[in-house]
Amino acid sequence: MDKFKRTLITTALPYANGPIHIGHLAGVYVPADIYARYLRLKNEDVLLIGGSDEHGVPITLKAKNEGITPQDVVDKFHGIIKKSFEDFGISFDVYSRTSSKIHHETASEFFKKLYDDGKFIEKTSEQYYDEENKQFLADRYITGTCPKCGFEKAYGDQCESCGTSLSPTELINPTSMISGNQPILKETKHWYLPLNEYEPWLKEWILEGHKEWKPNVYGQVKSWIDGGLHPRAVTRDLNWGVPVPVEGAEGKVLYVWFDAPIGYISATKELTADWKKYWKDPETRMLHFIGKDNIVFHCIIFPAMLKAEGSYNLPENVPANEFLNLENDKISTSRNWAVWLHEYLEDFPGKEDVLKYVLTANAPETKDNDFTWKDFQTRNNNELVAILGNFVNRALVLTQKYYNGKVPEIGKLTEADKNTLAEISKIKSEVEKSLNSFRIREALKNAMDLARLGNKYLADEEPWKVVKTDAERVKTIMNISLQITANLTICLEPFLPFSMNKLREFLNLEKLDWDKLGNTELKAGHKTNKPTLLFEKIEDSVIEAQLKKLQDTKKANEIAEAVANPAKENIEFDDFGKMDIRVGTVLEAEKVPKTKKLLKLLVDTGIDKRTIISGVAEFYKPEDLVGKQVSVLVNLAPKKLRGIESQGMILFAEDADGTLRLVAPEVNVKPGSEIK
Ligand code: MF3
Ligand code: ZN
Repeated sequence: MDKFKRTLITTALPYANGPIHIGHLAGVYVPADIYARYLRLKNEDVLLIGGSDEHGVPITLKAKNEGITPQDVVDKFHGIIKKSFEDFGISFDVYSRTSSKIHHETASEFFKKLYDDGKFIEKTSEQYYDEENKQFLADRYITGTCPKCGFEKAYGDQCESCGTSLSPTELINPTSMISGNQPILKETKHWYLPLNEYEPWLKEWILEGHKEWKPNVYGQVKSWIDGGLHPRAVTRDLNWGVPVPVEGAEGKVLYVWFDAPIGYISATKELTADWKKYWKDPETRMLHFIGKDNIVFHCIIFPAMLKAEGSYNLPENVPANEFLNLENDKISTSRNWAVWLHEYLEDFPGKEDVLKYVLTANAPETKDNDFTWKDFQTRNNNELVAILGNFVNRALVLTQKYYNGKVPEIGKLTEADKNTLAEISKIKSEVEKSLNSFRIREALKNAMDLARLGNKYLADEEPWKVVKTDAERVKTIMNISLQITANLTICLEPFLPFSMNKLREFLNLEKLDWDKLGNTELKAGHKTNKPTLLFEKIEDSVIEAQLKKLQDTKKANEIAEAVANPAKENIEFDDFGKMDIRVGTVLEAEKVPKTKKLLKLLVDTGIDKRTIISGVAEFYKPEDLVGKQVSVLVNLAPKKLRGIESQGMILFAEDADGTLRLVAPEVNVKPGSEIK
């Protein structure tokens, strides 16, 4: 920090086209929040900036699909997202939005400055146009086959299958997302930022000057630069966004990736009149917390914009994370494959810290990682409950029991006592080392070592046994245990803010600075309060319910995504005529003993009453079928199943997920009626 006096932390602005999920939290907001809380504990000057990204095609497409206006969409989701962040204690100094007036002005001025300084290239080119809707098809308004990997649903700006960034004209078989039509080509004028001109500078600034950036970030930047940079359009033919503030640009707006990062500036302006200090003073250190799909925008395009403008700082680091998967599958908003934050809180009220803990312990820092409910349960039960919760509970409860809640005097220290106390400062410097290099999951492990230390100390010293023989010694043991507990409230504050708040209440202690870690002094005689449990065990049934919810989602997706089998080969009418299908009524039904799937039915076919074995016990109970009309293939040769002769076959429709459903006439008909 020597070079710097203050830190500006930005977090990727989430698109306000849906609620947020654990992937957002794990990749961006939890690590940024931990880092910001840590700096605040050190009394550093720090701002944590956030806001909603309210422009761009993801928003207008959502509006179109739902028959509402883009403003309706962003108003709704900005509210939901903002509330989720508050609920989870993400400690933004400001959470703004890009549809605000201050942002429109800021983005507009920024563009104008670059325009006036001649930083753009103006170019007319042919672009895809939907004639039916009279609209140019930018970005996600157009899909087609990816020229790189052959994925058939690549977007006009990116292929989500192979990650390649694309322009609409590269797509094979382009199709309009609005009408499904083949678009035509039409001329239009746009402004481009000539990224190629910034190549030598980018090489020097990042490839030479920032070798300390995370390997996943540095590597991606290098491969972009090595692949050669090209002029990039920063305007679009759309009617939702920041209007292009120059003449001859009617019906055009700034490209969402041009205006959104400027949102960090507007949000800072909204927060403080002193915003320039955070953006232009070289003694401010700027950090961008983002997910890996945002690397190119934050390491190449936005810096090039800032460089072109000339008066702003550049980021000092961009600690981007990889992706979090859910139960071995890519998190997906459209397939509802996610744990939504607002839903989590309905199911786990008061357990914000548990989720934050698990997401940090398992953060996708160096590679994609997987969130599983089983791991969630294990980490809660075996780490938060068994290590941290157990230690502080024993320390506080014994203090109540032996000393009525008062901190006892510390006596003569043993070697073990001294070593234990010395350990605290070592843990402090480990946490610092990890946090300073953005290894947040490592930092959490380091911090939890303090709880492990406490647990081990109590287990070794066994005050509950010693108390029977040496009451003086127990005072020292309990004093030290309480000092460790007080240190925990500092050390774990960035990671588990709600729980540490609670723990401070138990200890009757105010918030302490980071400096105090390793030299807290809970004075003898200080009165602590009766504790409750910090964390509760999570039972199997709770986890099973979450897994069931996901299974239902998977099923619903399978049905939605299923494609009907192609038609079989043609047959002659006579072939069909050979089948004698009748309507029958089920008279009796029972399970075939020792089988899972088979039901034995007695059916009135109108011709006779006969026994038919049917493999539907998983879908129908015997009593559900009695009295129902069914379709029966009556001239199927009889066949023995489990020693019972089945005289025909009942017809079922098989749903996409394998469920069988009766095929029956729409109203009851006379048994024996022919189906033809
Ligand atoms: N909305 C973008 C996304 O979700 C992130 C925008 S970050 C900003 O991928 F820098 F542009 F604000
Ligand atoms: Zn591809």
